[in-house]
Amino acid sequence: MNSNTSSSAYKDLDPAKLPSHVAIIMDGNGRWAKKRLLNRIKGHERGSETVRAIVRACRKIGISYLTLYAFSTENWQRPRSEVTALMTLLKKFLESEQKEMLDNNIRLYAIGQIERLPKNVRQVLYKAMTLTKKNNGMILNLALSYGGRAEIVKMVKEIAIKAKDDIIDPDSITPEIISEHLYTSEIPDPDLLIRTSGEMRISNFLLWQIAYTEIYVTDTLWPDFGKDEFVRILQDYQQRERRYGKV
Ligand code: IPE
Ligand code: IPE
Ligand code: MG
Repeated sequence: MNSNTSSSAYKDLDPAKLPSHVAIIMDGNGRWAKKRLLNRIKGHERGSETVRAIVRACRKIGISYLTLYAFSTENWQRPRSEVTALMTLLKKFLESEQKEMLDNNIRLYAIGQIERLPKNVRQVLYKAMTLTKKNNGMILNLALSYGGRAEIVKMVKEIAIKAKDDIIDPDSITPEIISEHLYTSEIPDPDLLIRTSGEMRISNFLLWQIAYTEIYVTDTLWPDFGKDEFVRILQDYQQRERRYGKV
């Protein structure tokens, strides 16, 4: 990696105004491949290279939490061959990045219906999560078989059962109690949400958590995305005034 260019790009960022939590909808792998008359899988392969680059950049810049939307509950409806290829890539990524995460004090975390992932993927995922459990430099949070609505259904069921069993009084339910029953209970809400490849939609990502998140949509396809554009987006974020409904 060229450390000169990276340090000069990062220098333009105000360390006091960095987002603590960046979430990314990594979209456009299929279109990237289609433009090149390649199989969609090639796009996912290139996309996983971008993941490596952005994880590194976030760690260097000093982002505390990075959440990546890697696979949605709806993505199970893609052709079986594509789902299998994505799961294989995920397993490869987890295996190859384990050392990098340990060397760079990165803790791996995952949100979503992890039980739906193939057993061999779950095994490497749990191994990497356990090995990096004590790391506190950055949390890399992967959204896997994640859906915001499924997460809300899970939260409502858990709270309803506690109400039925007299553990929770319905009158005392607060936004904080709801947050505690989501997958992200240990993670603050995102400050910045980036979506690549131009689509102006949320696609069932972190529905509750993005209530006051700043949104940035870039036309760049995920495999073409890189740290220079990421730094420009962070600079744009640093210019924004977050009002939270106040004046
Ligand atoms: C994002 O790229 C990766 C996943 C959703 C797993 P896509 O595969 O959605 O790419 P496009 O949207 O078809 O270009
Ligand atoms: C969102 O992208 C899901 C992930 C990036 C994992 P999709 O490509 O699945 O979303 P839609 O279909 O454009 O809404
Ligand atoms: Mg897509």
